[in-house]
Amino acid sequence: MSFPSDFVWGAAAASYQIEGAHAEDGKGPSVWDMFCKKRGATFEGHHGEVACDHYHRYAGDVELMREIGLRGYRFSVSWPRVLPSGVGPINERGLDFYDRLVDALLAAGIQPYLTLFHWDYPLSLYQRGGWLNPDSPDWFADYARVVADRLSDRVGWWMTLNEPQCFTLLGHETAVHAPGDQLELGQVLLTTVNALLAHGKAVQALRAAARRPLKIGFAPVGNVSVPASNSEADRHAAREHMFRCDGSSAWANSWWMDPIFLGRFPEDGLRAWAGRLPELGPRELETIRQPLDFFGANIYWSTVVRAGEDGKPEVVRNPPGAPINAMGWPISPESLYWGPKLFFERYQKPIVITENGVTLREFMSVDGRIHDPGRIDFITRYLRELRRAMSEGVPVLGYFHWSIMDNFEWAEGYKERFGLIHVDYATQQRTLKDSAYFYRDVIASNGAALG
Ligand code: FCB
Repeated sequence: MSFPSDFVWGAAAASYQIEGAHAEDGKGPSVWDMFCKKRGATFEGHHGEVACDHYHRYAGDVELMREIGLRGYRFSVSWPRVLPSGVGPINERGLDFYDRLVDALLAAGIQPYLTLFHWDYPLSLYQRGGWLNPDSPDWFADYARVVADRLSDRVGWWMTLNEPQCFTLLGHETAVHAPGDQLELGQVLLTTVNALLAHGKAVQALRAAARRPLKIGFAPVGNVSVPASNSEADRHAAREHMFRCDGSSAWANSWWMDPIFLGRFPEDGLRAWAGRLPELGPRELETIRQPLDFFGANIYWSTVVRAGEDGKPEVVRNPPGAPINAMGWPISPESLYWGPKLFFERYQKPIVITENGVTLREFMSVDGRIHDPGRIDFITRYLRELRRAMSEGVPVLGYFHWSIMDNFEWAEGYKERFGLIHVDYATQQRTLKDSAYFYRDVIASNGAALG
C-alpha cells in the first residue's frame, strides 16, 4: 500500500520557539517571556527572545521548506503579538507578519496549518488570573475571531490548542513550564476545564467569522499504549490503559478527547474528582463538543502494556538499553501504528499526525554537513508503522514532522535539536540535515523511499 496522492507531508514549529522579535512591532509579553527570566527555569537560562529569528527570516525559511518539498507547514500565531494585552486593541503589525508568512507559503505551494495557541499566553491575562479566570474561554474566543477575520480567506486548516495537557499541567501543577505555578488539585482541574471551554468557544468563533468553510481540529498530546503481545487480553489491556482516567492525572487522553469528540466526560474521572470539579452540566458539554473535522495528535512515544494476573492493565518496563532519544524519550515506532488505530477506533475522525520527531546529539561535521542517520532511521520506522495503520483502513490525512528547524525546546532551551534543518544560533545560519534531504525524497516519492 502506498500513501494517498493527497497525503500532506508537512513539518511543524511554534511561535515562541522560532520567531524571536519578542518585543518588536508592538508585541506584548507572554508568560514564556516572564518564565525564562526566572533563575533555573530553563536550561542555562535560555530564552526565546531571538530564537531562530524567524520573524525576520521567514522568507528564507519558506524557501527551505519549498526545497524540501513540504506540502503543509504547521505554525502557531503568537496571541500577544496580535493582542498585546490579550484582549482589546489589535496590533495590526503583528497580524501583518502572519499575513506575509501565509502569502509566502501559498506562493511556495505549501498549505498553511494554523495553531491558535501553542503556549505563549499573554502575560497581562495571566495577571488577571489566566486560565483560572471564568472569562478565560471568552478571551480566547475573541482572539480566535480576530485571527480568523484576517487569515481565514487564505488559511483553510485550523487548530485551537496545542497540547492542552502541557500548558495546564506542566504550567500549573508541576511548574516545569510557564507560568510556573503549583496549584492545588481543584485549581489545576479548573484550568483544564477552562481550556476545554476555550477550545469549544474558539471553534464557534472560527466558524462564525470564517470567510469560507474551515477544517478545524486541535492538537493534544496523544498518549499511546501499545499491547505487549498480540493476544486479545493484552490488546484489551492496552486499550483500557490508553483511555482510562482514574484520577491519578489529568494527562489522561479521555479527559480531553471524550468531552470534545463524544460530548461527555469520562465517568471514572468524574467519580475520582467528585467535589473538586467546577460545574460540568449539559451547557458546558454542549460548548465543548463542537463538530470537528479531524483528530490531531502529537505522538512521540508509547508505553507498553499487558494484561496483569488480574486482567487489569500493567505497564511493562522497557528492557535495559532500549533505544531512547537525547531527552530520554523511548523510540517506539509502533506508537504511530497503535496511536492512530486506537484513536480512530474510539473517536471515528480522520487523523492528522500534528507532531512527531526526535532530538539527537548531532552537530556539524568537518565536511560542513549534518549527518543524522538516527533521524532518518526514526522517520523510516515511524512512517512505516503509520503506513501499516493506514493499510488497515485508518484514515490519516497528513504527517507533520517536529520540527522544520532546531529551536527553543522550552525548559530544555537550545540543548535539544529536533529540526530537519540545523540552526547555528550564533550566526542564524541554516543547514539542511541529511534527514531533510531524506524527507525530501520521501515526499517526492510519496512515501516509496521509505522502502
Ligand atoms: C511537544 C511540543 C512542541 C515540542 C515537542 C518536542 O510537546 O508541542 O512544542 O516541544 O514536544
